[in-house]
Order: sequence, then structure tokens, then C-alpha cells
Amino acid sequence: MVFIMFTRRTFARLAGAASLAPATPFAHPGKPLSRIAFGSCAKQTLPQPIWEPIIAYRPDLFIFAGDNVYGDFSSEDAEELKRAYDEARHIAGYLKLRETVPHLAVWDDHDYGANDGGVEFAHKTVAKDLFLDFWEAPPGDIRRTRGGIYDSRLIGPAGKRVQVILLDVRWFRSPLRITDQRGAPGKQRYLPDLDPAKTMLGAEQWAWLARELSKPAELRLIVSSTQVLAEGHGWERWGNMPLEKQKLVDTIRESGAKGVVFLSGDRHIGALYRETHQALYPLYEVTSSGLNMVYWAAKEPGPNRIGPLFAAANFGVVEIDWSARTLLLALRDESGDTRRAVDIGFDSLGIAT
Ligand SMILES: [Fe+2]
Repeated sequence: MVFIMFTRRTFARLAGAASLAPATPFAHPGKPLSRIAFGSCAKQTLPQPIWEPIIAYRPDLFIFAGDNVYGDFSSEDAEELKRAYDEARHIAGYLKLRETVPHLAVWDDHDYGANDGGVEFAHKTVAKDLFLDFWEAPPGDIRRTRGGIYDSRLIGPAGKRVQVILLDVRWFRSPLRITDQRGAPGKQRYLPDLDPAKTMLGAEQWAWLARELSKPAELRLIVSSTQVLAEGHGWERWGNMPLEKQKLVDTIRESGAKGVVFLSGDRHIGALYRETHQALYPLYEVTSSGLNMVYWAAKEPGPNRIGPLFAAANFGVVEIDWSARTLLLALRDESGDTRRAVDIGFDSLGIAT
């Protein structure tokens, strides 16, 4: 209760900027971001010791990348999701992070309310209201007046701007093509679907994304709760709709936006990925999952993966060295130790000097 009053007061202080402010405002809004942490898949009924190393990392920003609670529900009263949020409000580390670290959030299927759910989910409006209330979106927040919870932020001064683009891959997403061999390697649940009528983002969100990418920024973090670049598995991923994945790459290329990096979750494994495309700088992705939900036995081929999977609790980090013009993408474990990492020069992402 004290926490809720605190954040509402800070919103009020932000006045005009409130609809663009993270739930906990930045102490120095003009300061460039240099340490960003993120994670996904936090089951509220299980211990969550990982908040301690995340807070000790002292991130400038934390991004909740989906499945921030597990509250699947099937009736309009959304009892399970309400209970999940109530439980999460009482997890000490979760609470401390939300009180002390500026943060942003997107949902994935389990806080959307339906396992692997998409456009068809009947109770998504109820889930959206609960999501926006839990994350303390102010009354005038644009997400309250449009479909889905997609959003963006531009943080930092000119020359050191980070744009965070938060995609909603649930609200508008067409039904997936179900596998013909459930559980088989590479086709565990879904098969690639080349139907051109199917969409990941929906027309409205696609148009918005193109507009967002045309805004000036040095570095852009595109958060998609489901994996973008990962290939070689049959769970949820953008590769379930190859035409939509290609459209995402084309939208980035055509916008001229430099410095795009993807952040994702959902999978109960952590990994780094890199994919190359014609006439575009290489695209990188950090998948961090889960904060406490882990698929220990995970094993899968990774054509775009950098190094092996990391199948234990983890959080992702993006460290930006603005003077050296380098970026570190990494995964850290429950002790805060770095377990996977890749260094990238700004030049290789096309970022202008
Ligand atoms: Fe998920």
C-alpha cells in the first residue's frame, strides 16, 4: 500500500511527461542509460531469489519482458490473474525493485491470461485493465485508449538516446499453425505458416512501429516477449510466421533505423543470437528467461545462436559504453555472475559517430 502511494505521487510530479514516464521515474531523466537489465517468467508462487543480484547490479532501467506473473484464466472475473498480481505485490524483491528501479513492462501469454494465446482470447480487455493497473499506468496513458499494450520510450540526451520499443505479440496475433507431431524436435507445438493473411502485430501496431523507427535515436531495444531470431525449435517464435519475421527485418531496413537489438523471454532458457540479412547490419537478440521458471533439460539446435543455451535462472543485461562506443549483451545467473556475453561495437550496428 505504501508503495502504491509512493509511485502515484511520483507520477503526479511528472505532470505532462507522465504518460511517457516509467512507473518509477528516472532520478536524472537527462542522463544517458548505461546499464539496462531485463528478465521474464517469474512465477509468483515460487521463490524469487534473483531480485537480489538484479538490484545489486544497479540497473538504470529494468524491463519486465513478459510472463511477469502466471495468471491464466478462463472466465470474465479473471480471478486467477487478480490473485497472481496480488501475490506478486507481496514478493519482497519484486516490490523492492519496483520501488527503487525505473522499469517498463510488456506481457506474454501468462499475464495476458491464456497459454500461447493471441487475438482470439475472449478476456483480453479484462487482462489489459489489470496489467495497466498493476504497472500503474496513469489514467491518461495512451494504452488505455487503444488495443494492446504496445508502447515506446525515448530515454537520454541527443547523441546518447536509447529508444525502448515494447511490442505486443499477443493482442493482435493470428492463431498459430498447430504441429502434426507434438513434442518432436523442431516441431514441438507449432509449424511455420506462410499464410499471408496472418499477423504477429496487426496493421495498427505495424504502422505504429514504422513511425517509431523513424524517430531519431542512437540505440533501439525492441522488446518482443517471444523470440525473434531463434530458429530450430517448434515453440512460439516469430519464425512461426516467416513472412511476418521478414516484414520486421524489412521494416527496420526501410526505416533506416540503426542500432536495433532485440530483447525477448518466454522460453525458460537464456541465449544470445545473431542473424544477418542483406543490406542490413547484423541483428542481435538476448533471450532472458526465466527469472525463476527454468527448463533445465532444454536442448535444441541453434542455427543463429551464439554459444550454448543457458538453462538456469537468469537475467539479461545491456551495458552501453558511450565513450568507447561499445555494447555488451549478457546473461547473468542467480549469483549475479556473467554466464554468456557478446561485445558489439557501435560501428558494426551502423550507429553514426
Ligand atoms: Fe510465455
